[in-house]
Amino acid sequence: MAQLWKGRFKKELAKETNDFNSSISFDCRMFEEDIKGSIAHCTMLGSCGIIEKNESETICSELAKILDEIKSGKLEIDMTAEDIHTFVEGELTSRLNTLGKKLHTARSRNDQVALDIRMTLKKEIDEIINQIKVLLGVLVNQAEANKKTIMPGYTHLQRAQPITFAHHLLAYCFMLIRDIERLSQAKERMNVLPLGSGALAGTTYPINRDYVAELLGFEKPCENSLDGVSDRDFCIELASDLSLVMVHLSRFCEEIILWCSWEFKFVELDDAFSTGSSIMPQKKNPDIAELIRGKSGRVFGDLTTLLTVMKGIPLAYNKDMQEDKEAIFDAVDTVKMCLTAFTPMVETMSVLKDNMRNAAAKGFINATDCADYLVSKGLPFRDAYKATGEAVALCIDKGLTLETLSLDDYKSICTLFDDEVYKAINLEKCVADRICKGAPGIKSVEAQIEEVKSSL
Ligand code: ARG
Repeated sequence: MAQLWKGRFKKELAKETNDFNSSISFDCRMFEEDIKGSIAHCTMLGSCGIIEKNESETICSELAKILDEIKSGKLEIDMTAEDIHTFVEGELTSRLNTLGKKLHTARSRNDQVALDIRMTLKKEIDEIINQIKVLLGVLVNQAEANKKTIMPGYTHLQRAQPITFAHHLLAYCFMLIRDIERLSQAKERMNVLPLGSGALAGTTYPINRDYVAELLGFEKPCENSLDGVSDRDFCIELASDLSLVMVHLSRFCEEIILWCSWEFKFVELDDAFSTGSSIMPQKKNPDIAELIRGKSGRVFGDLTTLLTVMKGIPLAYNKDMQEDKEAIFDAVDTVKMCLTAFTPMVETMSVLKDNMRNAAAKGFINATDCADYLVSKGLPFRDAYKATGEAVALCIDKGLTLETLSLDDYKSICTLFDDEVYKAINLEKCVADRICKGAPGIKSVEAQIEEVKSSL
């Protein structure tokens, strides 16, 4: 396909250079945004008298036809074109001749591409937010079914204190809710129209940017034309928000991988979300969770790509910026793909409650409650902590648990111990008593569930 920038040049671009320079293989996905942007721009040109109204109408209806034809598969995008903007304008001109050549009045590809990416990403953000909401719904259901499922909570991957599986799942819910908030804010910040910035210095034509903003659903036009065409902070911000989504999914996957192991056996993934080994007949591997954990690296890489591309280029547009799209689209696609795989995997996994409860019975996770019990008997916490530590040490020596240590043994450590200690360290009670806001006690967990539901 011929280049747009005729006139100054005597030769066509070398084929190798064209292949290298071309972005159509990855910006063709913005064809709809590009055409809708052109329709809005052209409508404005007509309404401002920059081109004739009837000319504007003809161009707009031909653009709408081109859009329909691409969508229906009737018109194929020419992969030898320099980019999607060139292709659409070229196609229009081949159909309308002189009239088609008027479309680009008061516009540059620089503001056009800035527009198309924003429109594309706004749509993608909505999709990702919806996917996260579906995941939240699944997690809340799992939480509701596991309000009484006691498991050990960990620090340093050492059993620490008793919690419930619901409480554990809800922790991820709040991370994901913040992800949604961040994504919504990123969308709000990118909701500013770059069109009208021209190549870099606006235009002398009497354009109406507010009107174009309104037609395309942008909050307002950008304040500065150089800024409008030359920053990709909105891509970087989105890649950063998506990186955090991946951090959260990756940590969750890491836990699922651990929970699937014989060492834990807290959950079992459905066969439809597990894989086997080519040689070891007994294996059931959590490949999906591992792949999501692995794919987080891609998204962090995309963020690094974008930061690096942008950090050293002078204002305004530079061709380096063409590198933005593959990186941010890859981040978007990867997150969408991961959410598509992750949600049904979590929805269908079975929770092995007994194994969780058995794990909670070992590891002295009620030691803090034992110390708190001594505090209730009047001992300062630090002394209570020490006495309980001695009780744990004695249990380890004797191969016992805090539940099976005799009262005589307790009393040999601290005379304040009495029969009530066994009630105080009962795991069900330990969890049930944790009713302060944010804790794993049932009332608190129910409040958390309500909070998550209201965010949906
Ligand atoms: N394909 C280009 C990009 O993705 C579009 C903008 C081209 N502008 C230019 N001055 N070469 O960035």
